Parts: sequence; structure tokens; C-alpha cells
Amino acid sequence: MMLLLRHPDQMRRLRDQRGLLNSAVEEMLRFECPVQRGTFRFAGEEMVLHGQKIEAGQQVSAVIGAANRDPRQFPEPETFDITREPNRHRSFGRGIHFCLGAPLARAEAKIAVGRLLERFPAIDGDVRQPQWRANSGFRGMRELEVALG
Ligand code: HEM
Repeated sequence: MMLLLRHPDQMRRLRDQRGLLNSAVEEMLRFECPVQRGTFRFAGEEMVLHGQKIEAGQQVSAVIGAANRDPRQFPEPETFDITREPNRHRSFGRGIHFCLGAPLARAEAKIAVGRLLERFPAIDGDVRQPQWRANSGFRGMRELEVALG
């Protein structure tokens, strides 16, 4: 909701084209990913990654929030675009530890956002300075005050 309220043009577009709900939720996941820094891995063998030597056994941490704004992967990464396609964000991780709850989280987001837009056509709020929790691993807001209209 914060992203839609910050981007009224995108909110209007989603209201007009409800078929965009899937790609809108994917873009929300990319743009403000709840797990910003992800977990870490231990290198199974020595390797060079983007010119950086990594020793076998060394701990490597992936910053999902940064990957999701990588300009090599996402044209205009700082633009919130609910029609973005393809959108290969890493908000649910990747590979063998890919989030087990991803289908549930996606379904919940689609139901919540879809119903809010349906029920409250005039939803509005001052979303300039939301109160964030101090946890980048499980990032979220303490609260977001909106007026339902
Ligand atoms: C928007 C919501 C969610 C986000 C952004 C998210 C994100 C992630 C990420 C990034 C990972 C990968 C961690 C890694 O690679 O080490 C992960 C793993 C996991 N997630 Fe989620 N998650 C979400 C919701 C859920 C829900 C609702 C559940 C359960 C109902 C869940 C269960 C799990 C489990 C069990 C794993 C570990 C999978 C494994 O290690 O094989 N997640 N999640």
C-alpha cells in the first residue's frame, strides 16, 4: 500500500487493469523486498566471482535488496513499474533454499491488495515517513496510517 500510495499513477493503473495484480505484487516484492540482506552461504570450493576471489569455506552474504536494484538485470531499477516484465527479483531467494512459503505469501499479497483496492476506492495516507522496524533481515513497518475514505 505504501508503494501504491507513493505512486498514484501506478495505483490508478492497477485499479483500471486488475489483471496487473500479479505483476504488481512481483514489483512490490522487488522494490521493497522484506528480506533485504538474505542469509549467507559457505563457498564449497575456491572461486572467482565478479573478479573477487573467494576461498573454499569462506562465508558469503547476498544482499537481496541490492540484487533487486541491479541495473544489469532491471532496466531503470529505481522506477516502480507494476507492468515490469520480466521481473526476476530475488526476494524469495534462489536455488535449493528458495522460499517454501512463496506461493502463500504471493496469494496473501494479491488477496490483501486486491480487496483493499476494491473496498476502498479513496484510500489515502501520508506515506512519506513510515515507521520502519529496525530489522533489515525481516524488514517491515511498525505501522502505516491510512485513511480508508
Ligand atoms: C513476503 C514474504 C516472504 C519473503 C520475502 C520470504 C523470503 C525468503 C527468502 C529470501 C528465503 C531464502 C533464504 C535463504 O536462501 O537462505 C526464504 C526461505 C524460506 N521461507 Fe520465506 N519468505 C516469505 C514468506 C514465507 C512464508 C509465508 C513462509 C511459510 C509459510 C516461508 C517459509 C520459508 C522457509 C521454510 C524457508 C527455508 C527454505 C529452505 O531453506 O529450504 N516464507 N524465504
